[in-house]
Amino acid sequence: MSGAISDLSARMILDSRGNPTVEVSCFVDGELRGRAAVPSGASTGSHEAVELRDGGKRWSGKGVSTAVSNVNGEIRDAIVGMEISDQVAIDSRMIELDGTHNKSRLGANAILGVSMACLRASANVPLWVHISSENNASLPVPLMNILNGGAHASSNVDIQEFMVVPHGFNSFIEGLRAGVETYNALRELLIDEGMLGGVGDEGGFAPDLPRNEEGLRLVLSAIAKAGYSPGEQISIALDVAAQEFYSNGKYSIDGENLTGSELGNKYSDWLDRFPIVSIEDPFGEDDWESWVEFTSREETRVQIVGDDLYVTNPERLSHGIECAASNAILIKLNQIGTVTETINVIKMAKEAGFATIMSHRSGETSDDIISDFAVGLDLKQIKTGAPARSDRTAKYNQLIRISEQLQDYCQLF
Ligand code: PGA
Ligand code: ZN
Repeated sequence: MSGAISDLSARMILDSRGNPTVEVSCFVDGELRGRAAVPSGASTGSHEAVELRDGGKRWSGKGVSTAVSNVNGEIRDAIVGMEISDQVAIDSRMIELDGTHNKSRLGANAILGVSMACLRASANVPLWVHISSENNASLPVPLMNILNGGAHASSNVDIQEFMVVPHGFNSFIEGLRAGVETYNALRELLIDEGMLGGVGDEGGFAPDLPRNEEGLRLVLSAIAKAGYSPGEQISIALDVAAQEFYSNGKYSIDGENLTGSELGNKYSDWLDRFPIVSIEDPFGEDDWESWVEFTSREETRVQIVGDDLYVTNPERLSHGIECAASNAILIKLNQIGTVTETINVIKMAKEAGFATIMSHRSGETSDDIISDFAVGLDLKQIKTGAPARSDRTAKYNQLIRISEQLQDYCQLF
């Protein structure tokens, strides 16, 4: 639709960890047309756009009153009156206004809230239809995080995410069902083995385990217990988030201090023995050498995904493409901070032949915009946690709604 932005307003709401975050409403010709809420990471990459937090004592330092004021003041003054259908101009205006390379003055949380609310306000058809081009929409294969560790759990497990990937199905809903049944089977297994505790930030179970490899064994057993064929119907994906246990050039995992090469050999051994189709952040965010070495050896048998490595940033992705550091990228809107820049990074990755995965953050709200992005921009994969807790199921449920209008379930792996 077209029309002039007549008002913008932001407020603080709470995310799934109980931390403040920014929600923005966008009004066009006097009517509320779009609303969006910004997510927040825990294992954030140091090269991400800056999330503005108030500091101090209130809200344990995590208040967003400055970011909210920036939307209600400076950004509103600059954006009101602009044409709602010109997303590129809106985003450029905010980038210019901010004036820093990492959105640290106004805050990526302020800027992204406005950018997403404006996108929603500009659509007079379902959002995934609005952003899709040349009928290139498809339902993504979900990477479902059923066992949490790392910075998302208080367990002793180093690896952040053990995911199941239901790729051997003909429809999204069948794939989702298989993932849910596997999640339930894992719960039963953990009960049987006396290991069921709480869940982590993304809704996956979070047991203490004697070794990280035990997580692979448990997930593999859960797939079989749910009645599915591992590797054929459901495979495993990992988000190692290795930066979290990297220091002084060594990776501290399972009580050992490994070099990048040694850690790569451990992954290769796991690839020999488990149906793993994807490994995210296998190495630290600036350890390019280890990425390149591992990718050159394993790129034909596994998807290697840069999250903290690329932080959805075109300069970092361009370097990764040049040196073949990986063959896939994770896409998070708040790592770069605007809709336009996110779309450009997705295009850049696709042109280089990289696989693309749309992603939530560990701190989420009920906002489900990433589901529409995954479908409308045809990313083919989505990572949005366990099929539990409404901050995660909001995204799966939006995909269920979309699947009533669109049947193409991506055939991958
Ligand atoms: P984060 O975790 O949102 O805490 O960064 C998600 C991920 O690492 O993929
Ligand atoms: Zn990650």
